[in-house]
Amino acid sequence: MTITATARDSGNIKTVIDRLQHLLDDDLGHVEMLLRARAKSPVDIIPDLSGYIVSAGGKRMRPMLTLAAAHAVGGANQATHSLAAAVEFIHTATLLHDDVIDESDLRRGKPAAKSVWGNSASILVGDFLFARAFTLMVDTGNLDILNILSNASSVIAEGEVRQLAAQGRLDLPTEDYLAIIEAKTAALFEAAARAGALTGGGAEHADALAAYGKNLGLAFQIVDDVLDYGGATSVIGKVVGDDFREGKITLPVIIARRRGRSEDHAFWERALDIETQEESDLARAIHLIRSTEAAEATIAEAEAYANLAKAALKPLPDTPWRNVLGELADFCVKRAY
Ligand code: IPE
Ligand code: IPE
Ligand code: MG
Ligand code: MG
Repeated sequence: MTITATARDSGNIKTVIDRLQHLLDDDLGHVEMLLRARAKSPVDIIPDLSGYIVSAGGKRMRPMLTLAAAHAVGGANQATHSLAAAVEFIHTATLLHDDVIDESDLRRGKPAAKSVWGNSASILVGDFLFARAFTLMVDTGNLDILNILSNASSVIAEGEVRQLAAQGRLDLPTEDYLAIIEAKTAALFEAAARAGALTGGGAEHADALAAYGKNLGLAFQIVDDVLDYGGATSVIGKVVGDDFREGKITLPVIIARRRGRSEDHAFWERALDIETQEESDLARAIHLIRSTEAAEATIAEAEAYANLAKAALKPLPDTPWRNVLGELADFCVKRAY
């Protein structure tokens, strides 16, 4: 299916995610096949648990980013498919680990794997998928790709550890918050786009696509952090307030606290300390984030990164793929509404 053919019926398609899924239909078919095949193991819990989370859905944004990056600079091939599957396995592994760390009970609209199989199984199957991701990368036969993704993997872990150390630190500077989300989220978006460009034969555009991916990832995570204070569970597939309950300091909180009255400062101090947090605190936190217009300010920050992402696309060849990547940046912000 060509992109020009699908542009005609794009009016029927809800979001750019649906449109990308449509445009990348053939490629995603190969990727989904790899996700199933490479999760196979004689140890039943492994395919059961990984099949559960993989088939629960997920937007497949990162593999689509890899595929679209390759198309934007030449075209997708077998190596792109292996790479895209590796990227989704790394993402899935981090989600399995993340729900244990964050004590989250809902993922992709279903009970989190750790709530069904337990924490230990969730972590161990996450490790298995991580390892399988590396086998998939070896299949690309490209050491540069292995280098990009192994770097990103250690940066993600650093980001998660850094976030752990920042828990409850209300004086967390915005730059530190940004460094955390750049590592835990944007690094994989960046690597997915950079490596995708390499498989497409567009090494000269790898830096531009990496910059696009990084800024897209920052915008995406900032919006995700706003949605934690008011997104609909039916839309985000996660429980609202998970960040708050674990004392995670995110941009909406940083801004709301900075803009708040002095009596609100005492509230934030107490409520973001998990030892002293009370059940009713989340509602007040949501109220303060709204009344100080911290939500709007946070979304404006995300929009600035989405604009940087779009600007990074300028040197790319003028193709419909470049346009759809631009729309993906807009989608990351629109998701907030
Ligand atoms: C969830 O990512 C983790 C974050 C970085 C916020 P996604 O929202 O892309 O998760 P799925 O794959 O669509 O479930
Ligand atoms: C997702 O982070 C995990 C990684 C990016 C490694 P979060 O904890 O912020 O995301 P959700 O809200 O659980 O999806
Ligand atoms: Mg987390
Ligand atoms: Mg989490």
